[in-house]
Amino acid sequence: MATTQIAPERKAPSKLFIGGEWADSRSGATFESLNPATAEPLAQLAEARAQDVDAAVAAAREAFESGPWPRRDAADRAELLWKVADRVAARAAELARLEVLDNGKPIREAEIDLREAIDAFRYYAGWATKLEGETIPVRGNILNYTLREPVGVVGAIIPWNFPLLMAAWKVAPALACGNTVVLKPAEQTPLSALELAAIAREVGLPPGVLNVVPGLGETAGAALVRHPDVDKIAFTGSTAVGKVIMREAAETLKRVSLELGGKSPNIVFDDADLDAAVKGSYAAIFYNAGQCCTAGSRLLVHESAHDAVVEKLVERAQKLTPGDPLDPKTRLGPLISREQLERVLGYIEIGKKQGAELVIGGRRARYQGEEKGFWVEPTIFDRVEPQHTIAQEEVFGPVLATLTFRDEDEAIALANQTIYGLAAGVWTSNVKRAHRVARRLRAGTVWVNTYHPLDAASPFGGYKQSGYGRELGKYALELYTQVKSVWVDLS
Ligand code: NAI
Ligand code: MG
Repeated sequence: MATTQIAPERKAPSKLFIGGEWADSRSGATFESLNPATAEPLAQLAEARAQDVDAAVAAAREAFESGPWPRRDAADRAELLWKVADRVAARAAELARLEVLDNGKPIREAEIDLREAIDAFRYYAGWATKLEGETIPVRGNILNYTLREPVGVVGAIIPWNFPLLMAAWKVAPALACGNTVVLKPAEQTPLSALELAAIAREVGLPPGVLNVVPGLGETAGAALVRHPDVDKIAFTGSTAVGKVIMREAAETLKRVSLELGGKSPNIVFDDADLDAAVKGSYAAIFYNAGQCCTAGSRLLVHESAHDAVVEKLVERAQKLTPGDPLDPKTRLGPLISREQLERVLGYIEIGKKQGAELVIGGRRARYQGEEKGFWVEPTIFDRVEPQHTIAQEEVFGPVLATLTFRDEDEAIALANQTIYGLAAGVWTSNVKRAHRVARRLRAGTVWVNTYHPLDAASPFGGYKQSGYGRELGKYALELYTQVKSVWVDLS
């Protein structure tokens, strides 16, 4: 069966990528990556630990201090990033398959990831030549101007839900701005990051500019965060680990940007096109099996639209069943790991215990008739109260919490009533309401009459405990550059 074969799509060795070379881990340690659809092993890989991270940071530091990358003509950096994009594009079909095998997501969604990753490399290739300073009219006979310079060595720590895409979101702007990078992919999904390393090597990215160190969070990730020679950490993952990283980074006063969890409200007003709202709400929670930081995991629906919306959502969810993730018709993939499976099933139990009404799903799902892999049924809870755990905490699975409201003020109060503020959806045909509500929602992204679209050109990030710093768009340039003020006495 296709999904259990050791991936022929792989070109990169099962090693660490340090200073432009493939290396075994210094400790000899290895770890396994699984195919979540079947829980069968997919690859055995060198596992980076603190010593390997030291070597990777040394290579990145050397490349930053003495290598050509930060000093190179911006146009040359742009050209190389564009070549990375071209190479990813040329291998898009096999990289999408690899992402499916390692992560479990349906191939149709992996193809979207690939397109967006390519977009990110091309978008930031364009910015390399547009990082401009200013001349500033200061007092005195002085020429004052600013230089926008790279921050140095960037440690990028990424999650498993969009492996190659999260790598692109960090690596592309960091490199465009002239930094060097040590990338630590998630231990569940290291394979596409290694392919990216192979591509970087192939297109002639200078040694040490991009290093890739697959390994565990508490060892390799923590070593990167603590390392005195790393200037900045760019992190996407859980709010809990984001807090640890912020504390650990304080010791060396690193710059930190954090893209963390969410409990995003998706608000359906009674004046919405309900068919569109149902379709969008379904995608909001079930895309990537709910393993999206932006998942619309709280459905807030006006009491008069409630019955119709829930009924239609259930109808759709009933048809969402496990299928081979490599099949283009499949829409539901497994969760990433046994831990996530147990965590999500645990939240479902808490939901039931606290008195929410389970309308559909709620159990482990079978794949090919067997209890293998990490599948969960699409699950919808109704009559959820705002204080319920499943209305407050990030479940990160295909589990929807439905709440009702009576008017706009109540909708907004409910929407803003969590520690998170990553994204929100609004469904209404009233144009005034759409913009009014968009302003009042405390979230970094608001989607009106749609859900989930992102673009390399538009900023993305959190309010409140969903983190800070904006990725994508021109805003990401702030994360990867620092400003120098130069004073020249002309008298
Ligand atoms: P996590 O936050 O532990 O993992 C994300 C990345 O951080 C991985 O590369 C991991 O190796 C690394 N990491 C873990 N501990 C670290 C440490 N002490 N220092 C440095 N790096 C460290 O997330 P996990 O455990 O995989 O998932 C748990 C929950 O986190 C999920 O249920 C979900 O709620 C949330 N999550 C949110 C994501 C998002 O996109 N915002 C992505 C992944 C998980
Ligand atoms: Mg895997």
